[in-house]
Amino acid sequence: MTTTDVKSSPKPQDTRGLAGQTIGDTSICQVSQTELIYRGYEIADLAANATFEEVAHLLLVGHKPSAEELKQFKDELTSMRAVDRGILEVIGKIAQCETGSDDVHPMSILRTGISLLSHVDPDCEDNSPEAELRKAKRLLAQIPTIIGFGQMSRDGKTPVEPDPNLDHAANLLWCMTGKKPSESAAKVMDVSLILYAEHDFNASTFAARVIASTESDMHGAVCGGIAALKGPLHGGANEKAMEMLKDIDAYIQAGSGDVDKFMKEAFAEKRKLMGFGHRVYKNGDHRAGILRSWGLKVAEEQGADSKKWFDIGDRVQQIMLDQKNIHPNVDFPCGMTYYVMGIPVPQYTPIFVASRITGWCAHIMEQHQDNRIIRPLANYTGPELKKWNG
Ligand code: SDX
Repeated sequence: MTTTDVKSSPKPQDTRGLAGQTIGDTSICQVSQTELIYRGYEIADLAANATFEEVAHLLLVGHKPSAEELKQFKDELTSMRAVDRGILEVIGKIAQCETGSDDVHPMSILRTGISLLSHVDPDCEDNSPEAELRKAKRLLAQIPTIIGFGQMSRDGKTPVEPDPNLDHAANLLWCMTGKKPSESAAKVMDVSLILYAEHDFNASTFAARVIASTESDMHGAVCGGIAALKGPLHGGANEKAMEMLKDIDAYIQAGSGDVDKFMKEAFAEKRKLMGFGHRVYKNGDHRAGILRSWGLKVAEEQGADSKKWFDIGDRVQQIMLDQKNIHPNVDFPCGMTYYVMGIPVPQYTPIFVASRITGWCAHIMEQHQDNRIIRPLANYTGPELKKWNG
């Protein structure tokens, strides 16, 4: 066996969590250090020139829609927004914690909502491409209704009906707040939904594909995706990132020190700072800068009380870069942006679902259309063989 100079051999790649492993093909999205592409279109191009409904059509149907196709797609989505009253009543009861547990997470409420929707979806057990596209459109259309009903119930307000005159992003804001959003707020939400829509084999999409690979149904795979996305290491980071910024602001207001001192203490405690780092992007997340610029525009229009969140955020970002060489991911600017838009913090990750449902369903359909059950090997590290009565 040849010996190699240990000092010169590169650090073996840490492959835990399938890091760096390419484990399948997809025609939906490419995530790389240099670009993020949805079916051939680069993310900055889509964020600048497309609407979320156009991107949803691109992901679910497979191509950029013509004007006629877009009109038909939007009309279909609008017509599908209503949710069975009995389901909404269950969602309302859970959200108001009438079910006993005194703090039900909105992602768990949404996961329950999808499960309930499966019981009233006539196509639930049909995995054909035509049925799955119908289901994907219904889920895309109904998720804002469920999110909004839950939030308004949680706030003790009378939930509103989806508004057929509003586009997808504006209707999501309307359902969550009961207020018609400004054009600029609807635009920022629309851009954020484009940025969140798809990201190849991230944890929640891969979870959905594993479930789909057993020939299980789309609703079940989406429930698995929601459970995965809820985690703070994944989609849950956008809420946690805003909570961290609020902790820093409280730390400053209490006279305990400035951002730099807070970060020094965080590093000393070896804390993971939410909204930073990424398994694939090591030189920055292509989406973060785009969302930050839209959010900053909202904050600057609102004045100093809103702008301060971006001032604190920019300092955190600079320190992470200077001292850890770690870049923000999309969740970091998302927290600040949604906060200055007045969106309830617990809804940040459900909003991620309202967008990523398009990517998940595209991947579930892709898996079903060329399927082999996903079943990798394991490396056994347990006890040597022994006799039970030995
Ligand atoms: C999303 O995969 C996707 O595409 C996901 C996503 C999508 O669109 O679907 O992009 C959305 O989930 C974005 C990520 C949101 N999560 C967070 O912001 C949580 C905080 N980030 C970390 O937990 C971490 O960076 C991950 C989970 C994002 C990535 O984990 P990795 O690839 O396993 O990296 P790691 O934890 O092994 O970190 C490598 C090093 C470690 O240092 P050492 O222990 O080797 O000395 O970098 C450090 C980590 O401690 N590090 C951090 C850090 N992230 C990495 N240190 C402090 N704060 C952080 N946030």
